[in-house]
Formats: sequence, C-alpha cells, structure tokens
Amino acid sequence: MSAHETALDLAARFGHERVIVLHDAASGLRAVIALHSSTLGPSVGGTRMRAYPSFDDAVGDALRLSRAMTYKATFAGLPFGGAKAVIDADPQRADRRELLAAYAHAVVELEGRFVTGGDMGIDQDDVQFMARISKAFAHAPKGAGPDASELTAIGVEAAIGATAARLGLPLRGLHVALQGVGEVGGRLARRLTAAGVRVTLADIDAAKAETVARESGAVVVPPEEIVALDCDLFSPNAAGGVIDEEALSHLRCRAICGAANNPIASPEIGDELDRRGILHAPDFVANAGGVLSLLFELGTLDAEGTVRRVERIGDDLAELYESAAAERIAPFRLAERRVDQRLAAARAAT
Ligand code: PHE
Repeated sequence: MSAHETALDLAARFGHERVIVLHDAASGLRAVIALHSSTLGPSVGGTRMRAYPSFDDAVGDALRLSRAMTYKATFAGLPFGGAKAVIDADPQRADRRELLAAYAHAVVELEGRFVTGGDMGIDQDDVQFMARISKAFAHAPKGAGPDASELTAIGVEAAIGATAARLGLPLRGLHVALQGVGEVGGRLARRLTAAGVRVTLADIDAAKAETVARESGAVVVPPEEIVALDCDLFSPNAAGGVIDEEALSHLRCRAICGAANNPIASPEIGDELDRRGILHAPDFVANAGGVLSLLFELGTLDAEGTVRRVERIGDDLAELYESAAAERIAPFRLAERRVDQRLAAARAAT
C-alpha cells in the first residue's frame, strides 16, 4: 500500500470479492475477514491473531494474506478460493477466549462462503473451541490425524529438499538459517535437524528459541542476525515482508524457502533475488501443507494420503524450478502465471 492507497483501494486493486470489518463492543473484538476469491469454490484461509501497529495494518495484512491464499489453493489444485481473517489483538491477552467467541459468532453468518482454521497466534485448541460455535472451522477430533501445523512443516521440509537438490546440495549437512520457531517453525526445526540438516535459528521469543534449540540440537542466534547469516538457505517462518530492500543488502544465502506467507516485501524484490541467482521457492507453493490439511479435515483423503499429497509439494516445486529455468523467468512469476491462467479459464467457463 503506498501512502495514498487506502486499504479499500488495495482491496479494489487485488480484486477482493468482499471485506468485512468486525467491531464488537462487549468483547472489544477488532477483526477483519477478507474474502478474496470464490471462483473455484468456497473461500478458505486461516484466522490469525496478532497485535498490529494500527487497524489499517491489520486490514492490509488480511488483504495480502487472503490473496496469497487464492494463489496457494489454486496452485495446489484445490477447489477453493482464498480468504483470511485477522483479529487485531495480542495473542497473550488474558481474555482472548472472549474475543475468539465473539469472532466465531460473527463467522457463523458467513457459513458456506468461508472455511477457516488456525494461523499465527491461533493454535489447535483455539480452533476446537471456535468449532463448537461455527461450522466454518474445519477440524478433526484431536489426535485423529496430522494437524495443519505439522502438515505445513512436512511440506516446507519437502520444498527445502527440492530447493537444495536444485542447487546440487544434499539435505544432510545443508546449513539452514531458520527465522521463527512458532507452531510451524518449531516443528520444521525439529524435522530438519532429525534429517541431518545444520540449523541455526532465531525467534523474538528468546525462551522459545532456546527450548527448540535444546530439543533439536540447533544453534541460536539473536533475531537481528538471522537474515544476514552466512548459510545455504534462509527459511522465513515468522511474519511477512522480512525480505525488504534493507534485508536484500545483507542476505548471504543461496536460496530462500520457508513457511511464512508473503516473506518477500514486493514482486520487484522477488525479481531482484532472481537476478542475483538466489533461488526462491514461492511461499504459496512451499507452505501449502496447511491448506492441504483440508483434504483430511473435509474427508477427501485419509491421514496417510494427505501426508503423501503434502510431500508431493517437493516434486511440484522441482518441476516448477525446471520449467522456470527453461523459460528464463523467476519461479514465482511462473507459478503466479499458472494460477492466473487457471482462474481466467474458470471464469471464462462460467
Ligand atoms: N493458515 C493456513 C495458511 O496460511 C491455511 C489454513 C486454512 C489452515 C484453513 C487450516 C485451515 O496456509
């Protein structure tokens, strides 16, 4: 969003179908639900809880994240469009359950159009809690199958494997700088170290970083050092926009692949990475394991079949790298083009 572009201008530019702002006086809920597309099916996307500098920032994030969900679901071949909800609140708040209840009640009105689950700041217990209020929360009984965070980590691990292979490097011994060890990043750190990857990690929550490092055998560095670390691959697993102009001048990796949504601040920076020969896995390809969990949650595939589908993200990415190299374009540009073509064809057919 430029200084002159308001959140609603951005929604118009991105082509959002509907954006809903929620204010609930009783609970103090401030939230936004962004429905980007329903061209291929109901709009899906997680619910995020995070304290933003301003509500406009929350809306901007929801708009960008919901658009990314359309790309993610479409590239993965799912019969869904993209959405995202953002609750503007500190996830540590003592009264968070009241906010979640008020939010879930508001979501009831959208049932059928919006399918949601967890995201940053929302864990599986929260999803189970909200699922008692609204059918929009896709969930299976606890322990029935792999959860969305684990599936996301499995998919990113496969994507890192494909990215390393493209660089001619084996996974074993690869040095990964991992930013963020939350629900997904923590699981990814454990999976990677178990596969023999050398992991250096950082998190703004120092205690969490220490815990994951102790359990996985990874090394911890301060958060401000992780982007500039000399490594084979940088793996963003926290907030978006971390690869901006400033970060670009410090990067010392050969590739980027992680679970974070929108880690590259702009398409121009994506192109610049490509010019510099830094191989960059499109986020919406690498991190599709979370949304693919719906195949299990909605009963399309069993647990094993879902895991196998998520692991195939590595093969899909390897094919994308190969085709993009043949066409001499950045992989993210090719992936976006394929999605745009698929959506245009679907619109033309109706
Ligand atoms: N939050 C997940 C993501 O960003 C997607 C998701 C959607 C997960 C619906 C569960 C349910 O990809």
